[in-house]
Amino acid sequence: MSKQILITGGAGFVGSHLADGLLAAGHSVRVLDDLTPQVHPAGRPDYLSPDVELVRGDVRDPNLLKEVLTGTDAVYHFAATVGVGQSMYEISRYMSVNTQGTAELLQAILDSKTQLEKLVVASSMSIYGEGRYACSDCGKAASPPVRSLAQLKSGQWDLHCAACGGVLKPLATAEDKPSEINSMYALSKRDQEELCLIYGRTYGLPVTALRFFNIYGTRQALSNPYTGVAAVFASRMMNGNAPMVFEDGEQMRDFVSVHDIVRANMLAMERPESNGEVINIGCGKPITIRRVGELLAEALGKDVRPVITNKFRAGDIRHCYADISKARRLLGYEPQVNHEEGFQELAEWLSGQQAEDKADTMLKELSTYGLTA
Ligand SMILES: NC(=O)c1ccc[n+]([C@@H]2O[C@H](COP(=O)([O-])OP(=O)(O)OC[C@H]3O[C@@H](n4cnc5c(N)ncnc54)[C@H](O)[C@@H]3O)[C@@H](O)[C@H]2O)c1
Repeated sequence: MSKQILITGGAGFVGSHLADGLLAAGHSVRVLDDLTPQVHPAGRPDYLSPDVELVRGDVRDPNLLKEVLTGTDAVYHFAATVGVGQSMYEISRYMSVNTQGTAELLQAILDSKTQLEKLVVASSMSIYGEGRYACSDCGKAASPPVRSLAQLKSGQWDLHCAACGGVLKPLATAEDKPSEINSMYALSKRDQEELCLIYGRTYGLPVTALRFFNIYGTRQALSNPYTGVAAVFASRMMNGNAPMVFEDGEQMRDFVSVHDIVRANMLAMERPESNGEVINIGCGKPITIRRVGELLAEALGKDVRPVITNKFRAGDIRHCYADISKARRLLGYEPQVNHEEGFQELAEWLSGQQAEDKADTMLKELSTYGLTA
């Protein structure tokens, strides 16, 4: 049945793809987005479907929220400022948009007595801190704390077993791993998740929090150097520069195509089994950051190799990739895009884009605050 759906932050990378998916399924889509200049320097993005009703404004504006909630059946809450490093020095903006913005949304749902069928909130793998590990020597399972500044300064990238000192090997991270907050961004994402889940339990609203891993795909904000490592690497290569990789490049992450993320979001709306749950959405297969740089270079036809800087960013984790068995069980989710296909599609889209390489600006800012070395 056709529904009226509101996507906050729906003019962004993920939200706009979701809007296309929902429109194709016969739903009506309204987007509340303030077109943040860091993400949308040219205003309304060309890629946003003309069938989307765009309401330009701030998710913290109670009157506007009341207006956009009128007639809404379901909400995807994606509006956020996105960037781990930047959140460490734009503390007030991150907490205001992400945490307070979510509080305002829930207050408006309550005050307007909107009868929603579903609320899906975009959470993030960043709330885990380090992922799950087991010791390569004694086999003991471990959930180590994030590395200290002293360890990073000494260039010892790997984590070690507290029992025997052996190197810890990463395992897939499931939802029951306790979160270990290590950035203002992660804190604000956990706030968003918990605010929505508490609201759902209190007022009987079906809520699902999806913990997205590293999403890549067309429409990534190339103007925003604070998020999206694939886009940052690609922007450098398109400007004739090699991608700069922190540490030794062997950090493992879970890169998931935006098309799989859209499928997961649509399943979350359809499947009551997901109500009240937090669910990882990734591709389930780890990849090193160095390999991401290599695959992107191949896809872009560039003869460049990632530069291993052996530098670090304060608070970066070593490894984290998703255990997606809960998504399989509750949503019937199965990733469909492999890295080769996904990066090829990203490269084809990039060849038609102007990408300003702002990685140096980002590094300078981080270094001003002593957040990289
Ligand atoms: N991209 C990823 O890899 C990733 C990973 C984990 C979680 N997430 C989460 O997914 C969601 C979407 O991320 P994205 O990659 O599409 O980011 P994005 O920056 O492309 O989109 C976010 C959108 O929110 C809008 N926005 C920002 N502040 C706003 C405000 N005050 N009021 C209204 N709109 C506002 C921006 O203009 C932008 O269009 C975010 O909540 C993000 O935290 C993304």
